[in-house]
Amino acid sequence: MHDLVVEGGTIVTATESYRGDVGIIDGKIATLGKNLKGKKKIDATNNLVLPGGIEAHCHIAQESATGGMTSDDYQSGSVSAAYGGNTCFIPFAAQHRGKGINETLDLYDSRSKNSSVIDYSYHLIIADPTPDVMKRELSEAVARGITSFKVFMTYDLMKVSDEQFLEILTTAKEHGVLTMVHAENSGIIKWVSEKLIKGGYTKPRYHAISHPEIAEVEAINRAIMLAKFVDAPLMIVHVSTAQGAALVLEAKNQGLKIFSETCPQYLFLDRNDLDRPGMEGAKFICSPPLRDKKTQDELWKHLQIGTFTVFSSDHSPYRFDETGKLAKGSDAPFHQIANGMPGIAMRLPLLFSEGVNKGRITLQKFVELSSTNAARTYGMLPRKGSISIGADADLAIWDPEITRVVTVEDQHDAMDYTPFLDMEVKGWPVSVISRGSAVILNGKLVGDHSHGRFTPREKIDLTGFGGKPAPELDVESFF
Ligand code: URP
Ligand code: ZN
Ligand code: ZN
Repeated sequence: MHDLVVEGGTIVTATESYRGDVGIIDGKIATLGKNLKGKKKIDATNNLVLPGGIEAHCHIAQESATGGMTSDDYQSGSVSAAYGGNTCFIPFAAQHRGKGINETLDLYDSRSKNSSVIDYSYHLIIADPTPDVMKRELSEAVARGITSFKVFMTYDLMKVSDEQFLEILTTAKEHGVLTMVHAENSGIIKWVSEKLIKGGYTKPRYHAISHPEIAEVEAINRAIMLAKFVDAPLMIVHVSTAQGAALVLEAKNQGLKIFSETCPQYLFLDRNDLDRPGMEGAKFICSPPLRDKKTQDELWKHLQIGTFTVFSSDHSPYRFDETGKLAKGSDAPFHQIANGMPGIAMRLPLLFSEGVNKGRITLQKFVELSSTNAARTYGMLPRKGSISIGADADLAIWDPEITRVVTVEDQHDAMDYTPFLDMEVKGWPVSVISRGSAVILNGKLVGDHSHGRFTPREKIDLTGFGGKPAPELDVESFF
């Protein structure tokens, strides 16, 4: 007898769709079949039963380098993620200069403990790669189950130099973990920003002008070249340009271990949103910035053909008030407005509606992009991201036919706006199950904040990739 049976739905994985029941025992998938018996049942007739979403890029209970705190903590952020069809999320644990790695991870453990309704891990941001960090603390982080490091090529208080980047790439490779990068050229951004500010061009729209496409393209190219030089795997996060995506595709075609991500804001919003009246445009300031409509079409193409391995929200919630976007005043210049926008609850409904329901991607591709690829890339497959015997019973039950007009209330986060307001979407997650326990049931929160657990992750599997360090580095015991 199962503890719970999700019955009568269409089970969808990254490889197939079929009608069946999911039988769950002790939080794990025990049986896939028909007419299963259970102590409890959830009726999924006419619904899709998918692996729960894995949100692989979000900022929760995180201070920015300049000290601003995100409005969502693990309580509100996890609830919003669950309402959006997610059963697991991987926010960042951000090291700041002068701080160690263990103390950073301890801090985030204290922020997440007994708070999250879904399981979680952290990507570790490295902003201060001291010799002690590189030699001792990173291996301790890997032993704690943190198998992805992130670096910034921009932001004065976070960015690493090219030589530090190389050191992190090679150290991560040695440990079998993945480096992620925010790729924008800091010098270009600073140079243009200073000129704009001096000239009095301070409105939100100048944020996009100060972060030109070429700043991303140059940094992506440099990041790929550095990774190629040492033959290390690299994930380029939040790619916003067609040229940047083309560089990733070219690198993949060369057999390099280059992965990439894009986000809903680059597919569904554009730079005209920064021109909204008054300071409304501040709601749409994020980095890299919103681009144009033509870029949206190009990014969709790259999503379809597999250039992007993951599709993440980059949920960076700063309220439209003096605690967030307007902390530096109600008419602050663009460079003093917190970067980022919320969207953790909208990532999957938007992708489902505009992707699956509009015929741009298959259901299998949707499952890959929403869950399975993140699980594989970040060391959680097959425990998560899969509907298979022995996997965690992490499921999202979708009604593919519901039509909704997006509201702020639908977000269930700690925010006072959504950039996706009033968009019409078709398809919505109605129930979400984490390790066999309902978190959202027919649209109502029933989950418990002590349920979500830290999920230690495995090293990454690069079987099947080619690649060698640059010939000049082919020196025995170089590293
Ligand atoms: O604007 C953004 N994306 N803010 C969050 C921090 C980052 O760069 O990912
Ligand atoms: Zn970033
Ligand atoms: Zn981010």
